[in-house]
Amino acid sequence: MEIKITKTTTPSEMPAEDKLGFGKVFTDHMFIMDYTEGKGWHDPRIVPFGRISLHPASTVLHYGAEIFEGLKAYRRADGGVQLFRPMENIRRMNNSAERMSLPEIPEQDMLEILETFVKLEERFVPKSFGTSLYLRPFTFGNDESLGVHAVKSATFMLIASPSGSYYAEGINPVKIMIESEDVRTVRGGTGYAKCGGNYAASTRAGERAAKKGYSQVLWLDGVERKYIEEVGAMNVMFKIDGEIVTPMLTGSILPGITRKSCIEVLKSLGYKVSERLFSVEELVSALESGKLEEAWGCGTAAVVSPIGKLAYGDKEYEVNGGKIGEVTQKLYDILTGIQWGKIEDKFNWVYKL
Ligand code: PLP
Ligand code: COI
Repeated sequence: MEIKITKTTTPSEMPAEDKLGFGKVFTDHMFIMDYTEGKGWHDPRIVPFGRISLHPASTVLHYGAEIFEGLKAYRRADGGVQLFRPMENIRRMNNSAERMSLPEIPEQDMLEILETFVKLEERFVPKSFGTSLYLRPFTFGNDESLGVHAVKSATFMLIASPSGSYYAEGINPVKIMIESEDVRTVRGGTGYAKCGGNYAASTRAGERAAKKGYSQVLWLDGVERKYIEEVGAMNVMFKIDGEIVTPMLTGSILPGITRKSCIEVLKSLGYKVSERLFSVEELVSALESGKLEEAWGCGTAAVVSPIGKLAYGDKEYEVNGGKIGEVTQKLYDILTGIQWGKIEDKFNWVYKL
């Protein structure tokens, strides 16, 4: 793949590391390539970061033909930079593309794009533990016509944002509300794909929860409103009676890479992990009997996020006295340890650049 690079003539300052939020500032460049039916992907290029121009009838603006990924470049203690399981993101992006009738990208090409881009923007990978360069690859359909069909032309882009530690002062347990009105997705729908529309449709419930003082919602399945699916934009796990339970991947749940990694770490530590249907009744009964020992969300942005309180209807339950649990903390320490290169990567997950 020959990537044409046009460097900016006005390089920006790396923002102060203690002031980085999440996804607010961007690096100096962006990667773009175009897709045309018959011709395939073409004109891979890195150009100065800036606005893009779209035809007003562009498919993405009307029918939401968009998919994305989220992964991070981490600064190791020795100064080097590494990615965490990038092939998992690359494969998931292609699965999302297949679902949304958008063009897939050959795995090796995508890896080369990530590697070339991160190397070019290396100075934007922050150095403090917990900070990273968040990478956001995305593809959108841009046929210049209003017909509804699989797109004939698309654009792939990669942008990057130096981001702060998700938690400023350690990981604090959050308050979560079980959502019984809206659903995130349905089986047969797009839940397993990382497509923009899933997120637009989920913000209403998130906003309503925020007004009531909760950080996020716990989603129930869209068919029976019975089985637990995810928490906000994260996968969710519970420790009940010594066993770890996480919703099985039914098609409406995003197959998280952090979820997969948590399961592998937990199994290596000797925990029994059960991926199965887990009903809200079962959760409430575990809360009431005191058998629910820990609950946490997991995803790339936050790594793990302990749940300290859970509300269902007009009842509110405390989990583990509102404090982070032992397993949640252990997972956080091991995953962040591997990601930032502080502990041995015995799973062979990191990809050094
Ligand atoms: N669930 C949803 C809906 C997400 O958007 C994400 C974030 O990417 C996750 C789960 C966690 O996935 P991962 O661990 O791959 O970041
Ligand atoms: C995650 O990384 O856990 C996310 O949910 C990413 C989000 C910004 C879409």
